[in-house]
Amino acid sequence: MGPDGDPPSAAPADEDRTVGRQTVLVGDCLVRLAELPEGSVDVVVTSPPYNIGLAYNAYDDGGDRAAYLDFIAAAGRALKRVLAPGGSFFLNIAGTASDPWIAQEVAAALRPLFVLQNAIVWVKSIAIDGRSVGHFKPINSRRYLNHTYEHVFHFTATGAVPLDRLAVGVPFQDKSNIARFGHDADRRCAGNVWFIRYETIRSRGERFHHPSPFPVELPERCILLHGRRDATVLDPFLGTGSTLVAAERLGCRGIGIELDPVYAAAAVRRLEGLAPLAPDVA
Ligand SMILES: C[S@@+](CC[C@H](N)C(=O)[O-])C[C@H]1O[C@@H](n2cnc3c(N)ncnc32)[C@H](O)[C@@H]1O
Repeated sequence: MGPDGDPPSAAPADEDRTVGRQTVLVGDCLVRLAELPEGSVDVVVTSPPYNIGLAYNAYDDGGDRAAYLDFIAAAGRALKRVLAPGGSFFLNIAGTASDPWIAQEVAAALRPLFVLQNAIVWVKSIAIDGRSVGHFKPINSRRYLNHTYEHVFHFTATGAVPLDRLAVGVPFQDKSNIARFGHDADRRCAGNVWFIRYETIRSRGERFHHPSPFPVELPERCILLHGRRDATVLDPFLGTGSTLVAAERLGCRGIGIELDPVYAAAAVRRLEGLAPLAPDVA
């Protein structure tokens, strides 16, 4: 049964599949990453399990914290080997209201391996001018506030990897700033707080019965920020394939690794359902 009590809607994939520019590898990322050539990946965008007891189809998300952090460090070492010298590793993670340290501990486990070049906050819901926008899971508590943001840690080898900030930029509010500060275009860096709302779904089946997909816009922003059209993208914790959907939409080659054949099969179905790329992107 799937995590929502519904039967998974397709038979598990039992082998790797390539759809368009995207390859889905089934298995443990520590094993499958060892098969990839050194320095062959430009952008890693991923969200590992958070070790908070989420009801995945097969993966047990409730293990010992120290063992979990050892596993994160092992995945970090494997990713460091495959990442190109000028590559970027975007890691999405969050704590919970009652255990907010998880994200920082994960980042600390990776600190000996990478430089934290940018610390980005992904806001899922925010109240502005008395109005709430976005979606979040409310918690019933007198102690804790609703948890409406997550972290996106941007790791690199040197801390000095150039980014295409304007690819995810925004227009100037005050247009006189364009000439005053000598900008070529009406576009400025959007900063390190990203408001990205979850796509609205009508049933859990629309997110392929996975408990924790991120919106496709999140990996899209990371890939655009990296700034190379011909980038090779990797997600070692693929889930239902959001990162590869983003890579395919942007015309990039992508590789995803997922332990659970049911989720891997869902990722393949998602990729098969994408509209063909426009000729100028293909
Ligand atoms: C937070 S979810 C990723 C969700 C994904 N970003 C999406 O949008 O669907 C983490 C995923 O990692 C998978 N996973 C856990 N351990 C793994 C391992 N050792 N190798 C590969 N995948 C693993 C889980 O099955 C789960 O689908």
